[in-house]
Amino acid sequence: MPRQISAPRGTRDLLPEDGPAWERVESVARDLSRRYAFERIEVPLFERAELFARGLGESSDAVEKEMFRVSGARGSDEERAAWALRPEPTAGIVRSFIENGMHVRPGPLRLTMIGPMFRYDRPQAGRYRQFTQWDVEVLGDAGPAVDAELIELGQRFYGELGLTDVVAHVNSIGDAACRPAYRQALVDYFGAHLDRLTDDSRRRLEINPLRVLDDKHLAGDLVDGAPRSTDHLCDECRTHLRGVLDLLDALGVRHVVDHRLVRGLDYYTRTAFEFAIAGHEGQQQALGGGGRYDGLVELLGGRATPGIGFGIGLDRTVLAMAEQEVALPSSAPLVAVVGSGDDHADRLRIAATLRAAGLAIRPDGSTRKLGKQLESAVKAGATWAVIIGAEVADEQVALKNLATGEQSNVAVDLVAASING
Ligand code: HAM
Repeated sequence: MPRQISAPRGTRDLLPEDGPAWERVESVARDLSRRYAFERIEVPLFERAELFARGLGESSDAVEKEMFRVSGARGSDEERAAWALRPEPTAGIVRSFIENGMHVRPGPLRLTMIGPMFRYDRPQAGRYRQFTQWDVEVLGDAGPAVDAELIELGQRFYGELGLTDVVAHVNSIGDAACRPAYRQALVDYFGAHLDRLTDDSRRRLEINPLRVLDDKHLAGDLVDGAPRSTDHLCDECRTHLRGVLDLLDALGVRHVVDHRLVRGLDYYTRTAFEFAIAGHEGQQQALGGGGRYDGLVELLGGRATPGIGFGIGLDRTVLAMAEQEVALPSSAPLVAVVGSGDDHADRLRIAATLRAAGLAIRPDGSTRKLGKQLESAVKAGATWAVIIGAEVADEQVALKNLATGEQSNVAVDLVAASING
């Protein structure tokens, strides 16, 4: 027998039994996108690797350690090293915003997408090499109200799904005016405790000192004693953060100020936030995260335009729903169409009529005995069976409730109403 081929490490197949939970998270995300007036955007699954290096930062894990390079079979070495699968959508969306001259559209622009992302990371529970995000971005609005609106939107998403105990962690990591002094304060502080840093943190201290704060291997007291960005904010950043927090209070959105929250991508300015289930905090556990990136459009060659957005990890959302045993709304009833002999023309014709009336129909294609057909219908999850017999000549069928066993003759036209009744 030929050797079986397995799925790549860090990827998962979505099997039929996983479908209902995914349908649910995607439909709530799409419905909220509509209600919050976001417009759909799609960008390629792969882009020039340079876009991510420049946008996300050379020292971000997503670029430095996890970039998933792709190449064609042909072309020069340079061309073949030129692309990477997208680790996240924000850089691609900003590229598209610039390339398509979207700054001339009436703003602020509110854009959204749902799609797969790729990071060549070490797989573990909740961390995959291919995962799906619901992403929203607002371009052209610098004020704190939109920050609060997006944090409220994230919380509403989890709430509508039925997840409990989700907390929004909020911080401000300053801007070009105040961040340099804060970086220096971190360098001074951690520099005095080099012996207590991990190798990774010593390296981070040189390239991006803020990221030392989210090294999970550091002692709690060392991190708690570190300078806080909120103590180093310039007046504009402080006022902005105050505005965001006051609005969250006014809206009753559950949140905490989290001084350790720095986010893993370099494009962030001012507001940074993450959603986590209380007791399950830490970057690898975040259900979603986002923040402001007021310098990114300019960094990628466009006109200075403020931006803010979030990415919610749908894989982790589905896992959290399973963990909390969140009930899914019951799905539409499944109806089997069964018959006798080779009356398949009638079965398929009645199936088509009932589908046109909106029902989900699974016709039996066999010539087995009626009893066998009904047994398979139940196994397949059908709750009703439409049994075709001689009365079909008068557009009548027998409608059987597979849960109670009750059966009655019904006009084909009335089947949908009887089932939905
Ligand atoms: P991020 O924090 O890198 O942000 O990713 C957002 C979410 O994607 C995470 O909170 C997590 O739920 C999920 N996620 C990330 N990596 C993995 C993985 N390997 N496996 C499973 N889930 C994962 C961003 O991507 C930013 N683009 C968010 C944003 C949009 N900021 C502004 N606009």
